[in-house]
Amino acid sequence: MLAIMKNSGKVLLLSAVLMAGLAETKSANAQEATVQLQPSATPVVINKNIYGHFAEHLGTCIYGGLYVGEKSSIPNIDGVRNDVVEALKKLKIPLLRWPGGCFADTYHWKDGIGDKAKRPTMINTWWGGVTEDNSFGTHDFLNMCERLGAEPYLAGNVGSGTVQELSEWVQYVNFDGSSPMAKLRKENGRDTPWNVHYWGVGNEAWGCGGNMTAEYYANEYRKYATFMNNYSDKAKLFRIASGASSGDYKWTETLLRDIPHGMLEGVALHHYAVIDWNAKGPASGFTEEQYAATLKQAYLMEELVTKHSAIMDKYDPKKKLALVVDEWGGWYDVEAGTNPGFLFQQNSIRDAVLAGMTLNIFNNHADRVRMANLAQMVNVLQAVILTDKAKMILTPTYHVMEMYNVHQDANLIPLKVLTPDYVFGKESIPAITVSASTDKAGKTHITLTNIDAHKTIAVNIPLGERKANGYTGRILQSAKLQDYNSFEQPNKVAPAAFTGATLKNGLLIVKMPAASVVVLTLN
Ligand code: AHR
Repeated sequence: MLAIMKNSGKVLLLSAVLMAGLAETKSANAQEATVQLQPSATPVVINKNIYGHFAEHLGTCIYGGLYVGEKSSIPNIDGVRNDVVEALKKLKIPLLRWPGGCFADTYHWKDGIGDKAKRPTMINTWWGGVTEDNSFGTHDFLNMCERLGAEPYLAGNVGSGTVQELSEWVQYVNFDGSSPMAKLRKENGRDTPWNVHYWGVGNEAWGCGGNMTAEYYANEYRKYATFMNNYSDKAKLFRIASGASSGDYKWTETLLRDIPHGMLEGVALHHYAVIDWNAKGPASGFTEEQYAATLKQAYLMEELVTKHSAIMDKYDPKKKLALVVDEWGGWYDVEAGTNPGFLFQQNSIRDAVLAGMTLNIFNNHADRVRMANLAQMVNVLQAVILTDKAKMILTPTYHVMEMYNVHQDANLIPLKVLTPDYVFGKESIPAITVSASTDKAGKTHITLTNIDAHKTIAVNIPLGERKANGYTGRILQSAKLQDYNSFEQPNKVAPAAFTGATLKNGLLIVKMPAASVVVLTLN
C-alpha cells in the first residue's frame, strides 16, 4: 500500500504536480520529504488488533508486573495491579496474547485452575529456571482481559501438550452447555463462557515450540485444529498457525500450501529488531551506530510483511487469511545486575521511533496485517510499562502506542512517500515513515516518525481534496537518543503539544525534529 521513493541526495526530484505546490518552500539543500495522499481503490480498515500486546510468564511480566496476588499491599483486584490496569486502559488495548511465547509450549492449563493453594508447580525452563506456582492461570488472565476491555489471544501448547488438552481448553473457556469442561469451569467459579476467539496453535514451532520442520508442523496443525471446536457463533474460532521467523519465506509458503484454508484464519510472523544475537548492545547508553543498526533491523519489517504477504496472495488472493505479527519489538542486552533469563531492558527514544516506524508499516499493510503483538507488555523486552515493587513508570513506547491509537479501526489512506535517507556508516534507512487514516467521525489522523538522529526534515503534505482549517498535534522527542524514563525521572520522555506544522493553501508542512514521533489530527 505504501510506495516509498528513496532519495539520499540533497536535491529532491519531485514530479511536476508536486513541484507546483512546493516550489516556494524548498531550497536546494533542504532536507525535505513529500507525502501524497492517494485515493483508496478498495477501502482498507486498519484492524485495531494491530495494536495488540503480549504477556508471557517470563521474568516479572506476569508476577510483579501484572499480578501481585490478592494479599499484596499494592492496590489490586483479584491480585491484578490497579495502577497497571488503569495505565493500560488508556492505550485502548484491543488484544492480549498469553501465556507465551516459548513458555506456551511448556504450559499445561489445568495446572492453573482451581484452588491456588493446591496448584502444582513447574519449572520455567525457558526463562530463568524459576519455579512457576501457577497462581496466575486461565481465570486470572481472562478476567483481567475483561477488565482491560481487551480480547484474549490464547497460545495453545503443541510442543509438549496433547490434542485433547488443547481441545479441552477450548471447551473449558467457550462452551455454554452441559459438558465435563463447562462443569469444571463452573465449579471453579465462572458460570458463563468467556468466548475466546483468538487461538495460537503452538508458538515458534521451528524452534522452542518443538524444532519441527514446516511440513511436520503443518500436519500437526491440521490435527490440532481439527479438534478445536466452534461451540457457538459468539465464540467463533480464529486459529493462528505458528509462523515464520523473519525472512523464512519457505515456512510461510509450506503452511499456506499444506494447511487447508478452511482450518486456518491467520498465519503468524515473528521479527525482533536485534543487531546481532551474540552482541545485542545495551538498551540505554548505546552508540549512534547501534541506534542506526537497530532501526535498520526494525525497518526490515517493511520487506518482511511485503514478501510474506506476496506468498499469501499467491495462495489466498482474496486475502481471507490474516498475517499476524504476534511478536515484534527491539531486543537488547538485559540491564546490568538483572537475571539474564528475565529479558528486562530499558526503553529509550530509540524504542519510541522503532515503535512509530513499525506501526506505520503495519498500518500501511493493513490489507493483510490484521493483528500484531508488541513484545512484551510489562517489564520484558520493549515493554510499555516498567514496575519496581509498588512503583510504575510508562516508557516512551507506551506513549507512542497511546498516540497512535487514533488509527484503530479507522480507514487507511494509502500514501506515496518521497523521503531522504538517514545515512550512518554502512546503514541507510528511509528517514521518514508515515501512515494516515480517517476515523469513524470523519477525522483524518497522520502519524509520522523521523528516525534521522540529527536532521530536522520538513514533510510536505498537499491535502488535495481534503479540506482542513488547521490541525492539532502531539510530539514525542527528547534531547538525546538514549533518553528514557526511570523511577527517579518518570516523565523525562513524555508527549508534548506539537506546533511545528503550517497549513496554507491546502499544503501541510510538518517540521519533524530529529528522532521524533508526531501525531496530527486535521480539523
Ligand atoms: O518474547 C520472548 C521470546 O521470543 C518468546 O517467548 C519467543 O516466542 C520468542 O523467541
